[in-house]
Amino acid sequence: MAKKIILDCDPGHDDALAMTLAVANPAIDLLAVTTSAGNQTPDKTLNNAMRMLTLLQREDIPVASGNQTPLVKPLETAPEVHGETGLDGADLPDPDFAVQKMTAIELIAKTLRENDDQVTLVVTGPMTNAALFLRVYPDLARKKIDQIVFMGGAMGLGNWRPSVEFNIFVDPEAAKIVLNFGIPLVMAPLNVTHKAQIMKDEIEAVKEIKNPIGQAFYGLLSFFEQYHENPKWGFTGAPLHDPCTIAWLIDPTMFKTDKMNVDVETQGDLTRGETVCDCYRLTGKPVNTEVLLDIDRPRFIRLIMDSLKSFD
Ligand code: BDR
Ligand code: CA
Repeated sequence: MAKKIILDCDPGHDDALAMTLAVANPAIDLLAVTTSAGNQTPDKTLNNAMRMLTLLQREDIPVASGNQTPLVKPLETAPEVHGETGLDGADLPDPDFAVQKMTAIELIAKTLRENDDQVTLVVTGPMTNAALFLRVYPDLARKKIDQIVFMGGAMGLGNWRPSVEFNIFVDPEAAKIVLNFGIPLVMAPLNVTHKAQIMKDEIEAVKEIKNPIGQAFYGLLSFFEQYHENPKWGFTGAPLHDPCTIAWLIDPTMFKTDKMNVDVETQGDLTRGETVCDCYRLTGKPVNTEVLLDIDRPRFIRLIMDSLKSFD
């Protein structure tokens, strides 16, 4: 049976690819999409999610917009990574369907109530909507969400501050609520997503996928790759962060993982938003997270190529 998921995202190039993997693969049943403020302002991330679902011809999937700002901090976006629209690099169709007349957390609640099965919440942006949902609907969450699979954080790395990853940086207080709530977590940190690179020649191979989705991703990935060319990163391609979440749900054997307690620093001048991963179990705090640490990159890229080709 297909795994039922709700995708809470801030598209974002890699969010858009995560959504596309979810739509393309029969192992996943994408029940709803909710959007958060993160890579761009909330109006833009909502519009991008709807433009992507229009491109994918999945206007039947309900979309709702969530938080306008993080819980405590002012919103900081990432136009240098994702451009002014949040999805620069391709001409995407304007949305040809209506947004739900409810908030993200209301759509999550409705979706969970309408489904007898348990549902996985996948978060590929800041955790603001997830935290709000857990605060407003804790019983429904405990009953109906089997796990929260998220891209965010790192063990000893950072891409926005020396030890802080962007999604957790944007809303550390929300991440703290989610990580300490008690629902099992699966975390795709920078340690694995930096290994999940798509190389330039592989982006050129996407150009040869002649359907509209392949053509759109050729433009999107070419744009996204440019930011990562700066030698400071030491990349040879572009890290596909968010698709790691969906790839793990489709085929967890692609990954090596370890289980540990993960919490979030919300106080430090230098470290606010750092995920603290207790890999040697020094704290005695409960093991709350399965952390993805390594990936079979060729298989991951094959999954992406096959998914894009499936729209032929
Ligand atoms: C995360 O930040 C965003 O820019 C990406 O979409 C990804 O979710 C990587 O740090
Ligand atoms: Ca994202």
